[in-house]
Amino acid sequence: NAAEKGGYEHFMLKEMYEQPKAVSDTFSPRIKNGEIVIEELNMSEEDIKKIRKITIVACGSAYHTGVTAKYVFEGMARIPVEVDVASEFRYRNPILEEDTLVIVISQSGETADTLAALREAQKRGAKVLGIVNVVGSSIAREADSVMHTWAGPEIAVATTKAYSAQLIALYLLATKFAGVRGQITGDEQKEILDDIQRLPVQIERLLENKKNIQKFANRYLAADQVFFIGRGIDYGISMEGSLKLKEISYIHSEAYAAGELKHGTISLIEEGTLVVSVSTQKDLYKKMISNMEEVRTRGAFVMAVSVEGNLEVEKAADYVLYIPKTNKYLMNSLAIIPLQLFGYYIAVGKGADVDKPRNLAKSVTVE
Ligand code: G6P
Repeated sequence: NAAEKGGYEHFMLKEMYEQPKAVSDTFSPRIKNGEIVIEELNMSEEDIKKIRKITIVACGSAYHTGVTAKYVFEGMARIPVEVDVASEFRYRNPILEEDTLVIVISQSGETADTLAALREAQKRGAKVLGIVNVVGSSIAREADSVMHTWAGPEIAVATTKAYSAQLIALYLLATKFAGVRGQITGDEQKEILDDIQRLPVQIERLLENKKNIQKFANRYLAADQVFFIGRGIDYGISMEGSLKLKEISYIHSEAYAAGELKHGTISLIEEGTLVVSVSTQKDLYKKMISNMEEVRTRGAFVMAVSVEGNLEVEKAADYVLYIPKTNKYLMNSLAIIPLQLFGYYIAVGKGADVDKPRNLAKSVTVE
Protein backbone atom coordinates (compact mmCIF):
# COMPACT_ATOMS: atom_id res chain seq x y z
CA ASN A 1 0.00 0.00 0.00
CA ALA A 2 0.88 3.68 -0.23
CA ALA A 3 2.32 3.92 3.29
CA GLU A 4 4.74 1.06 2.68
CA LYS A 5 5.96 2.85 -0.39
CA GLY A 6 6.85 5.87 1.72
CA GLY A 7 5.23 8.31 -0.66
CA TYR A 8 6.85 6.87 -3.78
CA GLU A 9 4.73 5.69 -6.66
CA HIS A 10 6.40 2.27 -6.78
CA PHE A 11 8.66 0.14 -4.62
CA MET A 12 11.17 0.20 -7.44
CA LEU A 13 11.46 4.00 -7.26
CA LYS A 14 11.66 3.91 -3.48
CA GLU A 15 14.39 1.29 -3.66
CA MET A 16 16.33 3.27 -6.25
CA TYR A 17 16.29 6.15 -3.77
CA GLU A 18 17.50 3.83 -1.02
CA GLN A 19 20.67 3.09 -2.98
CA PRO A 20 22.91 5.68 -1.33
CA LYS A 21 22.06 4.12 2.03
CA ALA A 22 22.38 0.52 0.79
CA VAL A 23 25.81 1.34 -0.60
CA SER A 24 26.97 3.15 2.49
CA ASP A 25 25.60 0.51 4.90
CA THR A 26 27.51 -2.12 2.92
CA PHE A 27 30.91 -0.41 3.03
CA SER A 28 30.78 1.48 6.35
CA PRO A 29 31.17 -1.44 8.73
CA ARG A 30 34.08 -2.76 6.63
CA ILE A 31 36.30 0.30 6.43
CA LYS A 32 38.16 0.89 9.67
CA ASN A 33 40.92 3.50 9.96
CA GLY A 34 41.57 3.38 6.24
CA GLU A 35 41.80 -0.43 6.20
CA ILE A 36 39.38 -2.95 4.72
CA VAL A 37 38.23 -5.32 7.41
CA ILE A 38 36.04 -8.18 6.27
CA GLU A 39 35.66 -10.23 9.42
CA GLU A 40 33.27 -12.71 7.82
CA LEU A 41 35.82 -13.69 5.20
CA ASN A 42 37.61 -16.31 7.34
CA MET A 43 40.71 -16.00 5.18
CA SER A 44 44.21 -15.19 6.39
CA GLU A 45 46.55 -13.05 4.28
CA GLU A 46 48.32 -16.28 3.39
CA ASP A 47 45.04 -17.77 2.11
CA ILE A 48 44.38 -14.66 0.04
CA LYS A 49 47.86 -14.84 -1.50
CA LYS A 50 47.30 -18.46 -2.44
CA ILE A 51 44.17 -17.89 -4.55
CA ARG A 52 44.91 -18.80 -8.15
CA LYS A 53 41.48 -18.43 -9.65
CA ILE A 54 38.11 -16.98 -8.69
CA THR A 55 34.92 -18.51 -10.03
CA ILE A 56 31.85 -16.30 -9.68
CA VAL A 57 28.42 -17.90 -10.01
CA ALA A 58 25.00 -16.20 -9.91
CA CYS A 59 21.76 -15.57 -11.83
CA GLY A 60 20.13 -12.48 -13.33
CA SER A 61 21.35 -9.12 -12.09
CA ALA A 62 23.61 -10.78 -9.54
CA TYR A 63 25.36 -12.45 -12.49
CA HIS A 64 25.79 -9.01 -14.03
CA THR A 65 27.63 -7.78 -10.94
CA GLY A 66 29.87 -10.81 -11.42
CA VAL A 67 30.65 -9.73 -14.99
CA THR A 68 31.80 -6.33 -13.71
CA ALA A 69 33.69 -7.96 -10.86
CA LYS A 70 35.68 -10.03 -13.33
CA TYR A 71 37.18 -6.84 -14.76
CA VAL A 72 37.77 -5.43 -11.30
CA PHE A 73 39.47 -8.51 -9.80
CA GLU A 74 41.55 -9.12 -12.90
CA GLY A 75 42.48 -5.47 -13.45
CA MET A 76 43.17 -4.54 -9.86
CA ALA A 77 44.22 -7.76 -8.12
CA ARG A 78 45.53 -9.66 -11.17
CA ILE A 79 43.59 -12.81 -10.24
CA PRO A 80 42.02 -14.71 -13.15
CA VAL A 81 38.24 -14.81 -12.88
CA GLU A 82 35.63 -16.90 -14.60
CA VAL A 83 32.02 -15.91 -14.24
CA ASP A 84 29.09 -18.09 -15.10
CA VAL A 85 25.35 -18.23 -14.70
CA ALA A 86 24.46 -20.82 -12.10
CA SER A 87 22.32 -22.95 -14.40
CA GLU A 88 25.29 -23.36 -16.75
CA PHE A 89 27.97 -23.78 -14.12
CA ARG A 90 26.29 -26.66 -12.33
CA TYR A 91 25.92 -28.82 -15.41
CA ARG A 92 29.24 -28.20 -17.09
CA ASN A 93 31.54 -30.34 -14.98
CA PRO A 94 33.44 -27.24 -13.80
CA ILE A 95 37.15 -27.36 -13.04
CA LEU A 96 37.75 -26.31 -9.45
CA GLU A 97 41.11 -26.70 -7.83
CA GLU A 98 42.23 -26.36 -4.27
CA ASP A 99 43.22 -22.75 -4.70
CA THR A 100 40.07 -21.71 -6.56
CA LEU A 101 37.80 -19.39 -4.58
CA VAL A 102 34.15 -19.73 -5.52
CA ILE A 103 31.95 -16.66 -4.95
CA VAL A 104 28.18 -17.02 -5.25
CA ILE A 105 26.10 -13.86 -5.34
CA SER A 106 22.40 -13.74 -4.49
CA GLN A 107 20.00 -11.16 -3.15
CA SER A 108 17.45 -13.65 -1.84
CA GLY A 109 19.87 -16.42 -0.96
CA GLU A 110 17.19 -18.82 -2.23
CA THR A 111 17.66 -18.99 -6.01
CA ALA A 112 17.50 -22.71 -6.77
CA ASP A 113 20.23 -22.83 -9.41
CA THR A 114 22.61 -20.69 -7.36
CA LEU A 115 22.07 -22.85 -4.30
CA ALA A 116 22.65 -26.00 -6.38
CA ALA A 117 25.83 -24.46 -7.83
CA LEU A 118 27.08 -23.72 -4.31
CA ARG A 119 26.48 -27.35 -3.32
CA GLU A 120 28.16 -28.59 -6.48
CA ALA A 121 31.24 -26.46 -5.75
CA GLN A 122 31.42 -27.69 -2.17
CA LYS A 123 31.04 -31.29 -3.31
CA ARG A 124 34.11 -30.75 -5.44
CA GLY A 125 36.06 -29.52 -2.45
CA ALA A 126 35.92 -25.76 -3.07
CA LYS A 127 35.36 -23.17 -0.38
CA VAL A 128 32.41 -20.96 -1.17
CA LEU A 129 32.02 -17.32 -0.21
CA GLY A 130 28.42 -16.12 -0.41
CA ILE A 131 27.51 -12.48 -1.06
CA VAL A 132 23.93 -12.49 0.19
CA ASN A 133 21.33 -9.92 1.15
CA VAL A 134 18.84 -12.00 3.13
CA VAL A 135 20.21 -13.00 6.52
CA GLY A 136 19.45 -16.60 7.44
CA SER A 137 18.63 -17.62 3.85
CA SER A 138 19.69 -21.02 2.46
CA ILE A 139 22.79 -19.70 0.71
CA ALA A 140 23.77 -17.67 3.78
CA ARG A 141 23.51 -20.83 5.89
CA GLU A 142 25.32 -23.19 3.55
CA ALA A 143 28.20 -21.05 2.28
CA ASP A 144 31.55 -21.47 4.02
CA SER A 145 31.65 -17.75 4.67
CA VAL A 146 29.11 -15.01 4.05
CA MET A 147 29.55 -11.37 3.29
CA HIS A 148 26.18 -9.69 3.69
CA THR A 149 25.02 -6.83 1.56
CA TRP A 150 23.13 -4.49 3.82
CA ALA A 151 20.50 -3.30 1.35
CA GLY A 152 17.52 -4.16 3.56
CA PRO A 153 14.38 -5.88 2.24
CA GLU A 154 13.82 -5.46 -1.48
CA ILE A 155 10.23 -5.72 -2.73
CA ALA A 156 10.23 -4.74 -6.42
CA VAL A 157 10.93 -7.73 -8.65
CA ALA A 158 13.50 -5.77 -10.63
CA THR A 159 16.47 -5.37 -8.32
CA THR A 160 18.16 -2.02 -7.84
CA LYS A 161 19.51 -1.44 -4.36
CA ALA A 162 20.60 -5.05 -3.77
CA TYR A 163 22.47 -4.95 -7.07
CA SER A 164 24.22 -1.73 -6.04
CA ALA A 165 25.15 -3.20 -2.67
CA GLN A 166 26.56 -6.35 -4.34
CA LEU A 167 28.89 -4.19 -6.41
CA ILE A 168 30.23 -2.59 -3.22
CA ALA A 169 30.90 -5.94 -1.56
CA LEU A 170 32.82 -7.03 -4.67
CA TYR A 171 34.86 -3.80 -4.84
CA LEU A 172 35.87 -4.20 -1.19
CA LEU A 173 36.97 -7.78 -1.76
CA ALA A 174 38.90 -6.94 -4.91
CA THR A 175 40.63 -3.96 -3.26
CA LYS A 176 41.47 -6.05 -0.22
CA PHE A 177 42.91 -8.84 -2.38
CA ALA A 178 44.86 -6.37 -4.52
CA GLY A 179 46.39 -4.82 -1.39
CA VAL A 180 47.30 -8.11 0.25
CA ARG A 181 48.82 -9.42 -2.97
CA GLY A 182 50.90 -6.27 -3.46
CA GLN A 183 49.16 -5.22 -6.66
CA ILE A 184 48.25 -1.78 -5.36
CA THR A 185 50.09 0.48 -2.93
CA GLY A 186 48.71 1.72 0.36
CA ASP A 187 48.12 5.12 -1.24
CA GLU A 188 46.24 3.61 -4.17
CA GLN A 189 44.09 1.63 -1.76
CA LYS A 190 43.36 4.79 0.19
CA GLU A 191 42.29 6.59 -2.99
CA ILE A 192 39.95 3.77 -3.98
CA LEU A 193 38.39 3.73 -0.51
CA ASP A 194 37.90 7.51 -0.65
CA ASP A 195 36.17 7.08 -3.99
CA ILE A 196 33.97 4.28 -2.65
CA GLN A 197 32.98 6.53 0.26
CA ARG A 198 32.03 9.29 -2.16
CA LEU A 199 29.63 7.06 -4.14
CA PRO A 200 26.49 7.61 -2.01
CA VAL A 201 26.53 11.38 -2.54
CA GLN A 202 27.26 10.95 -6.25
CA ILE A 203 24.37 8.47 -6.60
CA GLU A 204 22.07 10.94 -4.87
CA ARG A 205 23.07 13.60 -7.37
CA LEU A 206 22.35 11.27 -10.29
CA LEU A 207 18.91 10.44 -8.92
CA GLU A 208 18.07 14.15 -8.96
CA ASN A 209 18.16 14.08 -12.74
CA LYS A 210 15.06 11.89 -12.93
CA LYS A 211 12.83 14.52 -14.55
CA ASN A 212 15.09 14.85 -17.59
CA ILE A 213 15.37 11.12 -17.97
CA GLN A 214 11.60 10.77 -17.73
CA LYS A 215 11.17 13.35 -20.46
CA PHE A 216 13.60 11.50 -22.68
CA ALA A 217 12.07 8.10 -21.87
CA ASN A 218 8.63 9.36 -22.89
CA ARG A 219 9.92 9.77 -26.43
CA TYR A 220 10.67 6.04 -26.67
CA LEU A 221 7.51 4.44 -25.33
CA ALA A 222 6.71 3.05 -28.75
CA ALA A 223 10.18 1.60 -29.41
CA ASP A 224 10.15 -2.06 -30.30
CA GLN A 225 13.80 -2.68 -29.71
CA VAL A 226 16.74 -1.01 -28.00
CA PHE A 227 20.43 -1.91 -28.05
CA PHE A 228 22.91 -1.31 -25.27
CA ILE A 229 26.59 -1.32 -26.13
CA GLY A 230 29.78 -1.09 -24.10
CA ARG A 231 33.24 -2.52 -23.68
CA GLY A 232 34.87 -4.01 -20.59
CA ILE A 233 33.07 -2.95 -17.41
CA ASP A 234 30.71 -0.95 -19.61
CA TYR A 235 29.62 -4.19 -21.23
CA GLY A 236 28.62 -5.46 -17.78
CA ILE A 237 26.70 -2.23 -17.14
CA SER A 238 25.00 -2.56 -20.53
CA MET A 239 23.77 -6.05 -19.64
CA GLU A 240 22.10 -4.75 -16.51
CA GLY A 241 20.72 -1.63 -18.23
CA SER A 242 19.22 -3.81 -20.92
CA LEU A 243 17.71 -6.25 -18.42
CA LYS A 244 16.13 -3.43 -16.39
CA LEU A 245 14.49 -2.03 -19.50
CA LYS A 246 13.21 -5.29 -20.94
CA GLU A 247 11.97 -6.93 -17.76
CA ILE A 248 9.68 -4.11 -16.72
CA SER A 249 8.78 -2.35 -19.99
CA TYR A 250 8.51 -5.42 -22.28
CA ILE A 251 10.56 -3.67 -24.95
CA HIS A 252 12.97 -6.08 -26.53
CA SER A 253 16.53 -5.08 -25.77
CA GLU A 254 19.96 -6.59 -26.09
CA ALA A 255 23.35 -5.78 -24.66
CA TYR A 256 26.30 -6.18 -26.95
CA ALA A 257 30.02 -5.96 -26.50
CA ALA A 258 30.40 -2.95 -28.79
CA GLY A 259 33.07 -4.57 -30.94
CA GLU A 260 30.73 -7.48 -31.72
CA LEU A 261 28.07 -5.30 -33.29
CA LYS A 262 29.44 -5.58 -36.75
CA HIS A 263 29.36 -9.36 -36.60
CA GLY A 264 25.65 -9.45 -37.14
CA THR A 265 23.59 -7.25 -34.89
CA ILE A 266 24.25 -4.07 -36.78
CA SER A 267 21.94 -5.39 -39.51
CA LEU A 268 19.03 -4.72 -37.12
CA ILE A 269 19.73 -1.01 -36.89
CA GLU A 270 17.13 1.04 -38.73
CA GLU A 271 16.25 4.69 -38.99
CA GLY A 272 15.45 5.81 -35.45
CA THR A 273 16.54 2.66 -33.55
CA LEU A 274 17.67 3.67 -30.07
CA VAL A 275 21.20 2.64 -29.16
CA VAL A 276 22.39 3.29 -25.62
CA SER A 277 26.14 3.58 -25.51
CA VAL A 278 27.89 3.22 -22.16
CA SER A 279 31.35 4.70 -22.19
CA THR A 280 33.03 5.23 -18.83
CA GLN A 281 36.50 3.81 -19.48
CA LYS A 282 38.91 6.44 -20.68
CA ASP A 283 41.19 4.05 -22.56
CA LEU A 284 38.16 2.92 -24.59
CA TYR A 285 36.56 6.30 -25.34
CA LYS A 286 37.89 6.41 -28.88
CA LYS A 287 36.79 2.86 -29.68
CA MET A 288 33.31 3.60 -28.37
CA ILE A 289 33.03 6.77 -30.40
CA SER A 290 33.75 4.85 -33.56
CA ASN A 291 31.06 2.28 -32.64
CA MET A 292 28.60 5.09 -32.03
CA GLU A 293 29.42 6.58 -35.41
CA GLU A 294 28.92 3.18 -37.03
CA VAL A 295 25.36 2.84 -35.77
CA ARG A 296 24.55 6.48 -36.28
CA THR A 297 25.49 6.31 -39.94
CA ARG A 298 22.86 3.58 -40.22
CA GLY A 299 20.18 5.80 -38.75
CA ALA A 300 20.41 4.97 -35.03
CA PHE A 301 19.58 7.55 -32.39
CA VAL A 302 22.42 7.37 -29.88
CA MET A 303 22.01 8.04 -26.20
CA ALA A 304 25.38 8.05 -24.48
CA VAL A 305 26.19 7.58 -20.82
CA SER A 306 29.67 8.89 -20.20
CA VAL A 307 31.86 10.69 -17.70
CA GLU A 308 31.92 14.45 -17.09
CA GLY A 309 34.71 15.93 -19.13
CA ASN A 310 34.44 13.51 -22.07
CA LEU A 311 33.15 16.22 -24.40
CA GLU A 312 34.25 14.26 -27.47
CA VAL A 313 31.29 11.96 -26.93
CA GLU A 314 28.90 14.74 -27.91
CA LYS A 315 30.12 14.58 -31.49
CA ALA A 316 28.90 11.03 -31.84
CA ALA A 317 25.76 11.08 -29.69
CA ASP A 318 22.31 12.65 -29.99
CA TYR A 319 21.72 12.79 -26.26
CA VAL A 320 24.29 12.54 -23.46
CA LEU A 321 23.91 11.76 -19.78
CA TYR A 322 27.03 12.44 -17.73
CA ILE A 323 28.11 10.75 -14.56
CA PRO A 324 30.65 12.30 -12.18
CA LYS A 325 34.26 11.12 -12.11
CA THR A 326 35.32 8.24 -9.91
CA ASN A 327 37.91 5.45 -10.02
CA LYS A 328 37.59 3.54 -13.29
CA TYR A 329 36.76 0.30 -11.47
CA LEU A 330 33.80 1.90 -9.67
CA MET A 331 32.04 3.44 -12.67
CA ASN A 332 29.31 0.80 -12.73
CA SER A 333 27.85 2.12 -9.48
CA LEU A 334 27.20 5.51 -11.09
CA ALA A 335 26.42 4.62 -14.70
CA ILE A 336 23.68 2.20 -13.71
CA ILE A 337 21.60 4.94 -12.05
CA PRO A 338 20.44 6.75 -15.24
CA LEU A 339 19.84 3.35 -16.87
CA GLN A 340 17.63 2.19 -14.01
CA LEU A 341 15.70 5.46 -14.23
CA PHE A 342 15.39 5.09 -17.98
CA GLY A 343 13.94 1.56 -17.75
CA TYR A 344 11.69 2.63 -14.92
CA TYR A 345 10.22 5.66 -16.72
CA ILE A 346 9.65 3.77 -19.94
CA ALA A 347 7.67 1.20 -17.95
CA VAL A 348 5.76 3.92 -16.09
CA GLY A 349 5.01 5.70 -19.37
CA LYS A 350 3.63 2.50 -20.84
CA GLY A 351 1.48 1.92 -17.77
CA ALA A 352 3.18 -1.41 -17.03
CA ASP A 353 3.01 -3.11 -13.65
CA VAL A 354 6.48 -1.90 -12.65
CA ASP A 355 6.86 -3.71 -9.34
CA LYS A 356 5.40 -6.99 -10.53
CA PRO A 357 6.23 -7.56 -14.19
CA ARG A 358 4.34 -10.38 -15.87
CA ASN A 359 5.82 -13.90 -15.69
CA LEU A 360 8.59 -12.93 -13.27
CA ALA A 361 9.20 -13.83 -9.65
CA LYS A 362 11.35 -12.00 -7.12
CA SER A 363 13.07 -15.17 -6.16
CA VAL A 364 13.25 -18.17 -8.49
CA THR A 365 13.13 -21.20 -6.26
CA VAL A 366 12.30 -23.69 -8.99
CA GLU A 367 14.85 -25.05 -11.43
C1 G6P B 1 15.14 -13.06 -10.28
C2 G6P B 1 15.01 -11.57 -9.97
C3 G6P B 1 16.29 -10.83 -10.37
C4 G6P B 1 17.48 -11.45 -9.70
C5 G6P B 1 17.58 -12.96 -9.98
C6 G6P B 1 18.59 -13.62 -9.06
O1 G6P B 1 15.17 -13.24 -11.66
O2 G6P B 1 13.92 -11.02 -10.66
O3 G6P B 1 16.18 -9.46 -9.98
O4 G6P B 1 18.66 -10.82 -10.12
O5 G6P B 1 16.33 -13.60 -9.71
O6 G6P B 1 18.10 -13.58 -7.75
P1 G6P B 1 18.98 -13.62 -6.47
O7 G6P B 1 18.01 -13.54 -5.34
O8 G6P B 1 19.72 -14.92 -6.49
O9 G6P B 1 19.93 -12.47 -6.52
